[in-house]
Amino acid sequence: MTAAGKPAAPLASVAEREDRLFERWRVASAARVTRALERKFARLRAGAAPEIVRLLDAMEWTLLGGGKRLRPLLALAAAHAVCGDERLGMPGALAVELLHTYSLVHDDLPDMDNDSVRRGRPAVHARFGPALGILAGDALQSLAFEVLSEGAAPPGTPQGAAAAAGILARAAGPLGMAGGQAEDLAFEGRDPGEEERSQMARRKTGEMIAASLTVGAALGGATRAGLARLRRAGLLAGEAFQIRDDLLNREGDPQVMGKAAGSDERRGKSTLLARLGADGARKRLDLLALKAERLVSPFVSPRLDRMIRALSARSF
Ligand code: IPE
Ligand code: IPE
Ligand code: MG
Ligand code: MG
Repeated sequence: MTAAGKPAAPLASVAEREDRLFERWRVASAARVTRALERKFARLRAGAAPEIVRLLDAMEWTLLGGGKRLRPLLALAAAHAVCGDERLGMPGALAVELLHTYSLVHDDLPDMDNDSVRRGRPAVHARFGPALGILAGDALQSLAFEVLSEGAAPPGTPQGAAAAAGILARAAGPLGMAGGQAEDLAFEGRDPGEEERSQMARRKTGEMIAASLTVGAALGGATRAGLARLRRAGLLAGEAFQIRDDLLNREGDPQVMGKAAGSDERRGKSTLLARLGADGARKRLDLLALKAERLVSPFVSPRLDRMIRALSARSF
């Protein structure tokens, strides 16, 4: 019974209600992110010369062509968890999706993974040619910092905005995503140990997941201790996310995923899955996910908890 004398709701229905609320929030927030990106591109297009319009077309192609928007949702959930107002995290949310999309566009290039389908469409280089693929990636990266600097002006906190720019720059840089991508390519056809593969996954994928959380939290005014905890959670959840990606590459349906399957094995990618086997990889994934969930639990945010779980449990 509750204090008001009413019978307490059965536990299952509380969980179901929270699931529905989460789902409603997820869909609405992902749509808000997409609309804000569309508005930005509409402003860039106004009066642009035909050659620039072509570049903008190439930038929009994968950005607005689909995607689960997990990283911006992490940024919004983290901002909400630290200050109760997810709007403060929006500039970080947009920036992280732009950076992530740049990394995908370059990841697919012929001299990288040489994949020709992304988000259910031809990859940018397959549709617009490799030169525009490179330039679209470059310009998406710059646009991330432009959007961050525009949106994080007052009423967002200026200190938060400066910290946010540093977080994103480091996450995408030589000790982060770009470094991990360099390792990923250098490890092709070699046999690095488990620790090196884990390090590579944390850099190429974990750093951007961690930055999604910390950029949102920094804009929401998080403490240093809060940022450090979220960073640790993000690196672990990011490694779990990459292991899931590797499992999906082996077992997933290309139609559902909107990208190729079986390509890691063809290219001799040194994934954790290739080293540990499917059972070992799943065990490692579950352990990482559990640790990440424990790290975020003190924020007492159902939204954040569910987002962290969604990273390791996704099916596409
Ligand atoms: C795919 O990321 C690339 C990796 C880092 C493993 P997502 O699975 O989040 O791709 P989108 O954004 O939904 O297309
Ligand atoms: C993607 O890794 C990592 C980055 C884009 C930084 P993968 O190459 O394994 O991802 P998919 O499978 O192409 O999405
Ligand atoms: Mg790759
Ligand atoms: Mg790839």
